[in-house]
Amino acid sequence: MNTSRPLEKISHNTLFREGDIFVLFGELFGRGYATGLLEQAKAAGMDVIGITVGRRDADNTLRALTDEELAEAEANLGGKIINVPLMAGFDQDAPEGTPTPTELVNEMTMDSWQEHKLDWDHLAKCRELGTERFKASLAKIMEQLNGMIPAGKNVFFAHTMAGGIPRAKVFMAIANRIYKGRGARHMPSQNLIDSDLGKLILQNFDEVTANSFGHLLEASKSIRERIEADGGQVRYTAYGYHGTRVLIEGEYKWQTYTSYTQGFAKMNLENFAKTAWDNGVKATVFNCPEIRTNSSDVFAGIELSLLPLLAAFKKEGGGAWVDGIWQKCQDLLKDDATVEGMLQKVSDYQQDDAMQPFYNFEAWPMQNSAAQVDKTVGTSQEIVDLHKNRKELISDELSQHVVAATGALIFGEASEPAAPVLWLDHDMVAQSLIQSN
Ligand SMILES: NC(=O)c1ccc[n+]([C@@H]2O[C@H](COP(=O)([O-])OP(=O)(O)OC[C@H]3O[C@@H](n4cnc5c(N)ncnc54)[C@H](O)[C@@H]3O)[C@@H](O)[C@H]2O)c1
Repeated sequence: MNTSRPLEKISHNTLFREGDIFVLFGELFGRGYATGLLEQAKAAGMDVIGITVGRRDADNTLRALTDEELAEAEANLGGKIINVPLMAGFDQDAPEGTPTPTELVNEMTMDSWQEHKLDWDHLAKCRELGTERFKASLAKIMEQLNGMIPAGKNVFFAHTMAGGIPRAKVFMAIANRIYKGRGARHMPSQNLIDSDLGKLILQNFDEVTANSFGHLLEASKSIRERIEADGGQVRYTAYGYHGTRVLIEGEYKWQTYTSYTQGFAKMNLENFAKTAWDNGVKATVFNCPEIRTNSSDVFAGIELSLLPLLAAFKKEGGGAWVDGIWQKCQDLLKDDATVEGMLQKVSDYQQDDAMQPFYNFEAWPMQNSAAQVDKTVGTSQEIVDLHKNRKELISDELSQHVVAATGALIFGEASEPAAPVLWLDHDMVAQSLIQSN
């Protein structure tokens, strides 16, 4: 694949009706992408069923939600939650009496982590345990779910899981250096990839972000076959990331946030959808635009890919709603700053020499360079400084709209999806918002 395959038209739901089942495969937290899709499912009258990643006790044991936690999570979801803890990844799994991968990472220090070697035989056992635990919980969930889906219904499985960063203090410090470190504090992301720590993290990302989707496809096979035998249909969607086409010098061009360490896992996620598709299962990974969420806040400067959406709104037709958003964004800026001036800064950033090597789709996900991080983080800080209040950012305003738009685009496309991997770029996001507002 040497180019992205954009979604090219806005489709509308022709399949899902009142009483059909929407399964959210990932727990709903706050302001993330899943909220947009969930809203669409509810508007179509679907019954919502969710899962939980579970919670950890003080001694790290993974457990189901308490009655109180469950009631709160179900109220937040607006649907029933199957209360079996479904945490993916193996960062906290280990054979009895042996250290977990997170404990092993905690033995590293800022000075030692690059040379620190891990026992891969031990880690392979931890990984196997984590996978077995996940699959065993998933089998219980599927059994309960099967009993909750009446005959004749259509089912929509929406995968949202992504993550896998071990909860270790030292990694937080390393992440700060890699994603935010400028000048003397710059840390090449290649150093992480080359280290044993990096190799462990990539494996865990694969488990959480990609393999969880593979397990879902496999474990729901008998439900899928039952639904289809009854004349119903089943769809699977997942959220991918693989760069986005945004306006650069007036044209939609592919660009990416760098460095995106989870990129390898996201490509594996795409491969699960392609294999399923080849076997006649309608599974689609929707590669979504860069937005600010609890999960993406670690990536300093990610919003530089999002801000050109303001220009896309005008290119796609503008109108009263777009004028309103521009005004709202203008009001978030200091009196001597303008939206046009901010977009000019983003344009200068896009054109900067340091950024040019990264417009390379085939080489994605590329590792960072000192000049690139300096430009990305520096421009991001300059743009934050244009705001009246650094807690009320234009990127937050735009993120909410992208969440709503992708929800509508994904839900509309899922009835008759065009391909197993589709990119939702700024042109379609802008058109969808202009049409619906
Ligand atoms: N934020 C972005 O810029 C962006 C861009 C493109 C795609 N995405 C994708 O959208 C999806 C939702 O992410 P978001 O940014 O809205 O953030 P989010 O924090 O709302 O969602 C993350 C999801 O992952 C689940 N999760 C995290 N760790 C897990 C684990 N160990 N086991 C099982 N589940 C786990 C959470 O329950 C949650 O449902 C993700 O797949 C993400 O990669 C995000």
